[in-house]
Amino acid sequence: MAAFVVKGGSSLRGEVTIGGAKNVALKAILASLLTDDELVLHNIPDIRDVTYLLEMLQKMGMSIRRNGHSVRIRDGRLKELAVPFDVGARLRTSSMVIGPMLARWAQAKIPNPGGCRIGARPIDRHIAGLRKMGASISYSSRDGYYYAQTDGLHGAVITFPKNTHTGTETLILAAVLAKGRTVLKNAASEVEIDDLMALLNSMGAQVKRVAPREIVIDGAAKLHGADYTIMPDRNEEVTFAIAAFVTRGDLTIHNSQPHNLTAFFESLAAAGAHIEVKDKSTTRYIGDGTLRSTDVVTEPHPGFMTDWQSPWTLLMTQAKGASTLHETVFESRLSYVGELQKMGAKIEFFDPKVLNPRKFYNFNWRRADKDTHQAIRIIGPTKLHNAVVVMNDLRAGATLLLATLVASGTSYLHGVEQIDRGYEKIEERLNSLGAHIERVEENHV
Ligand code: EPU
Repeated sequence: MAAFVVKGGSSLRGEVTIGGAKNVALKAILASLLTDDELVLHNIPDIRDVTYLLEMLQKMGMSIRRNGHSVRIRDGRLKELAVPFDVGARLRTSSMVIGPMLARWAQAKIPNPGGCRIGARPIDRHIAGLRKMGASISYSSRDGYYYAQTDGLHGAVITFPKNTHTGTETLILAAVLAKGRTVLKNAASEVEIDDLMALLNSMGAQVKRVAPREIVIDGAAKLHGADYTIMPDRNEEVTFAIAAFVTRGDLTIHNSQPHNLTAFFESLAAAGAHIEVKDKSTTRYIGDGTLRSTDVVTEPHPGFMTDWQSPWTLLMTQAKGASTLHETVFESRLSYVGELQKMGAKIEFFDPKVLNPRKFYNFNWRRADKDTHQAIRIIGPTKLHNAVVVMNDLRAGATLLLATLVASGTSYLHGVEQIDRGYEKIEERLNSLGAHIERVEENHV
């Protein structure tokens, strides 16, 4: 296992090119299960979650050829219609094979999904939708597997009770080969879903977003191969943008997506941050001037994304005044706060008044959740200092890494594998901009 040793205190300056979106790459790879033909994908980031997923598909019998950021996947005669338990535990997206598998082979066996430890993350909304499309699905608490089968999936009108990003995608991946028309109401509107839809349409599917939260899918008898380049990762862009501001640096980002970062830009404007949008894919983030405190509430797209919440907290430790941040999408996405406090950040938990929490929160609110805090108050600006910190999830991991860049002295970060799940060669890229990060084996720390 690796750790990072980070010498803080430098400003990051230079140019960064954003890689392919993790949250599209994983689902695009799963689309390969929908056809006999070869699927060729480009701009696939070299990150651990992608490697895990490709390894899983290979074990199940798919033929995979990876060359740099391109991958060629072909159905090499699938021998397994089950996701191995260990893969399921480390990669949440693996459970999404239930959609394509039911559509194509009428059965699937998937473990209760894992992934980042940011909440209970059940898949009840996915399961309910698949049942409506004609699947029978049971869960065995003895082995932790969902068992699913169908006599043939058919179209249905499905209304999601609350937003679900991967739930929407799972049902799309099932509906493209189902018999008849599926209508997804109250569907998620994350832009990554639309990129997956464009890929599926290039494979011969008929998927269309007919309203901001409504998607119509006309099932096809067969899909064919395609050659497709996936979109850049806006969460990675946010990470680098925050890096520029907190280190008082100056970064020009290529493959930028200002049009998909409206809520982030609005919050940056409220904080008084200096941005220059050069053209539709180039943005400069400049860390000069004093930042103001802000009040942010996370929401599904097009709101302020939950993925930007932890880097925003770090940014607010450097802003003047008292900021608030209310996480409404996942119930346990504030676990990094204790680590920032160790570095000197002044952050306290508080309980905002929520009239109808069951309706307000995106997670399935239970009475027990009233005892957990969903909001924090951040007092800034604070000088952060070095510490030994542990990263527990991907975005919080990246945030803690940025915090050590701002901090005085040398810090040690454990749990680097969390960052490797979603950021390609992060330390090399940050070092090329002026950071001092060394990757070492845990037993050298
Ligand atoms: N939820 C349920 N039941 C369901 C589905 C969701 O209770 O059947 C709850 C979740 O537990 C969560 C909330 O509803 O509290 C929202 O979940 P959603 O399904 O929208 O999130 P997700 O699909 O699990 C994806 C991304 C996340 C990203 C969110 C929000 C992937 C692989 N993951 O998660 O990305 O934060 O959507 O856009 O696409 C990340 O990249 O680090 C990451 C966590």
